[in-house]
Amino acid sequence: MAKVAFIGLGVMGYPMAGHLKVRGGHELTVYNRTAEKAQKWATAFGGRTAATPADAADGQDFVFSCVGNDDDLRSVTIGKDGAFETIKPGAVFIDNTTASAEVARELYAAAHAKNAHFIDAPVSGGQAGAENGVLTVMCGGDEDAFDRAKPVIAVYARMVGLMGPVGAGQLTKMINQICIAGLVQGLAEGIHFGKKAGLDIEKVIDVISKGAAGSWQMENRHKTMNAGKYDFGFAVDWMRKDLDIVLAEARRNGAKLPVTALVDQFYADIQALGGNRWDTSSLLARLEK
Ligand SMILES: NC(=O)c1ccc[n+]([C@@H]2O[C@H](COP(=O)([O-])OP(=O)(O)OC[C@H]3O[C@@H](n4cnc5c(N)ncnc54)[C@H](OP(=O)(O)O)[C@@H]3O)[C@@H](O)[C@H]2O)c1
Repeated sequence: MAKVAFIGLGVMGYPMAGHLKVRGGHELTVYNRTAEKAQKWATAFGGRTAATPADAADGQDFVFSCVGNDDDLRSVTIGKDGAFETIKPGAVFIDNTTASAEVARELYAAAHAKNAHFIDAPVSGGQAGAENGVLTVMCGGDEDAFDRAKPVIAVYARMVGLMGPVGAGQLTKMINQICIAGLVQGLAEGIHFGKKAGLDIEKVIDVISKGAAGSWQMENRHKTMNAGKYDFGFAVDWMRKDLDIVLAEARRNGAKLPVTALVDQFYADIQALGGNRWDTSSLLARLEK
């Protein structure tokens, strides 16, 4: 049993912290900017709530975060009353936010200045993956810190991998998002075409999902796409945040991502349709409007 803090009890963080307490049996302290959520979590799971990230991190062996973006992450770590004010020497900070590789490197250096460790550990698997404790976790950092953190992370994961030095977890998550962007657009075009051709979409997907076109998105999203239902899942606003990070990194490393850049603009169209919180599969909606 370890002393663990969790910062950021959103859609993802709330159940992940729950698994650390229940499955992991760890001693949990939680912090959330909106204090009521932390109170609700503590009532449900029986941990301690902290008034600030600094208060939460004080004396812990492992400190987790899962907040929105780079600036949110800076604010809860190196900002005023941030976790790095109190993080103890030897502690491991594990960040589950989808953020840039740049901020991961910056926070790795800041943690090391306190003789602590930093691992970037973005996740894939969505809300259901977090609730069921079956996320894929892509890590970047030092091997010794990762070896210590891995069994703790594993309570909310199906797969935990060290991809390389700090930032490699975020770079791997970027590849994940690149692969999803073009694929979802392809799936949207396929369903759109099938409807125009007058075919039974359910029947079509039932057959082609068993062949080379099959994918997680096809399996898990075709029914709701066919029904025009998008009020769930991974929000378009979050996807645009992720693609922004991807395209900035590509400008730095020279990668050519024409389809990803185009799909990013298609997501801007979805936002203009009022679909900021719609699932990423809503790319079909702009073809049907
Ligand atoms: N949802 C998904 O399916 C999914 C899948 C994979 C990865 N992710 C990534 O995981 C991260 C979290 O996603 P989510 O869906 O859990 O988001 P969310 O429900 O919006 O939760 C965000 C959390 O961060 C906190 N926060 C945001 N800005 C903050 C700040 N400046 N200071 C302190 N706390 C702050 C929020 O506090 P309040 O409660 O006070 O707002 C909330 O606890 C994002 O980076 C997202 O891209 C999400």
